[in-house]
Amino acid sequence: MAIPTHFNSENIPRHIAIIMDGNGRWAKLNGKARIFGHRSGVKSVRSVTEGAAEAGVEFLTLYAFSTENWNRPKAEVMALMQLLVTTIAGETKTLNKNNIQLNAIGNLASLPKNCQAELKKAVEKTSKNTGMTLVLALSYSSRWEILNAVKSLLIDVKSGKLDETAVNEPLFNSYLCTSSIPDPELIIRTSGEHRISNFLLWQAAYSEFYFTDMLWPDFRKEHLWDAICDFQNRERRFGKTSEQL
Ligand code: FPP
Repeated sequence: MAIPTHFNSENIPRHIAIIMDGNGRWAKLNGKARIFGHRSGVKSVRSVTEGAAEAGVEFLTLYAFSTENWNRPKAEVMALMQLLVTTIAGETKTLNKNNIQLNAIGNLASLPKNCQAELKKAVEKTSKNTGMTLVLALSYSSRWEILNAVKSLLIDVKSGKLDETAVNEPLFNSYLCTSSIPDPELIIRTSGEHRISNFLLWQAAYSEFYFTDMLWPDFRKEHLWDAICDFQNRERRFGKTSEQL
């Protein structure tokens, strides 16, 4: 599958973040258990990661498990964690072949020990890669991240390490899990839902949103490229007027 010819290679979002939604509904439509939808979703993860790297995206963040997802039935949570472990372990070779670095954001200490270990291994094994960075948001929620940042910042002010008058946007940003990642220019959500669901709230201040009715297990690299083309036709004004741009 080739990148579309009307693609403007000069205007590729550096960072795309995706809320992968609709696995459960996809499974139901196919008369299967929810986990079957998540398993099929891994095929989309593979295709979209490949497509993003081919397009020249520098960072791809996937919302794989939210803080709120811990409230799902225990069996589904366990099956998702197991799927994460096997996927991360199984895909490390392909990530290296494609020069992709793996990273993760979220409350990683809350993940099961085997998941933490597999993640750590894959992050280390891919750390020398110089191509795209794939960021998995795991046990992640933006309110958790922001509160965490505020707590760390207060500790630093209290201990004298930080002068409170120095607190500004870049400094606050440096306390977030995404401190080394640019804000996403484009956020995609599948499955027809139009919500941000506690995802990158601070970082999404000027993001463009792209919603599609497609369920995540049906989403492939060509759909990602459609979203990029759509993004390229938008005027990003950052509060200015069209004439000022
Ligand atoms: C949302 O669909 C999807 C998730 C909560 C999990 C996403 C996980 C994967 C695609 C598999 C593993 C991913 C990686 C990166 C290895 P939903 O269950 O909320 O669907 P529904 O809204 O139709 O019920």
